[in-house]
Amino acid sequence: MSEEIVLSIFRGDAAGGQEVEYRVPLTPGMVVLDAVHQVQAHQAQDLAVRWNCKAAHCGSCGAEINGHPKLLCKTRLDDYVGETVHIRPMQTFPIIKDLVADVSWNYEVAKKVPAFQPAVPVPFQMQQFDVDRIQEFHHCIECFLCQDVCHVLRDHNAKDQYFGPRFMVKIAEFEMHPRDGGDRVPMLTHEAGLDMCNVTKCCTEVCPQHIRITDNAIIPLKERVADQYWDPLRALFRKKKDPTATAQSVQG
Ligand code: SF4
Ligand code: SF4
Ligand code: FES
Repeated sequence: MSEEIVLSIFRGDAAGGQEVEYRVPLTPGMVVLDAVHQVQAHQAQDLAVRWNCKAAHCGSCGAEINGHPKLLCKTRLDDYVGETVHIRPMQTFPIIKDLVADVSWNYEVAKKVPAFQPAVPVPFQMQQFDVDRIQEFHHCIECFLCQDVCHVLRDHNAKDQYFGPRFMVKIAEFEMHPRDGGDRVPMLTHEAGLDMCNVTKCCTEVCPQHIRITDNAIIPLKERVADQYWDPLRALFRKKKDPTATAQSVQG
């Protein structure tokens, strides 16, 4: 007889709900999304779950597995043999139904980040270092697991004060682009609420794309803010040292 895995899946909506137990046969290489699909196919046809690619590319299957934000399609069940697997929707966002959270707040925030703005004139040739630095940020799949775990958004529900780590990555992507002529540093100190982040690194720990959110995006952005607002001499010194630096390089 094949081994079974016990899933305890949240069933409910904004009005409330509870976890319901399901048993599913375990097969080699099975991921949590496979098991949820088995439940959907044979035991609960009305179970709501969001997914698209089943390949850790689309970012739509984010949920919480035993309390940890994870992609359902990237989490193998053989890591949970012998224990009940509790599956709940992301807690930082309003629930729609079962495992589906309403992440639309993130799309509203995305609209507030000014898009890439070509620098005029183009300041200098891009170096490989510049390409590598922003390439990391391009790997974001917008799963919003980092937003889910960030205590500023999750525990303090300060969505009106902080854009969250995903959008610090987005802003860093533009700010560090040598050919972007925009200046999002004033936004960081005000509307985007960078000061709310106290660099706990929880966001980095849950990122399925292994983006070093705090070290490579948030901390450099904090340095830019410090340079621009608190250390004008340092900014001048940098400009003198590297006259080819773009406006955003001078800021940090
Ligand atoms: S490091 Fe900052 S953005 Fe990341 S989880 Fe902590 S407070 Fe949130
Ligand atoms: S930075 Fe990582 S955790 Fe955050 S949305 Fe992008 S891929 Fe997901
Ligand atoms: S289904 Fe696309 S990331 Fe999981």
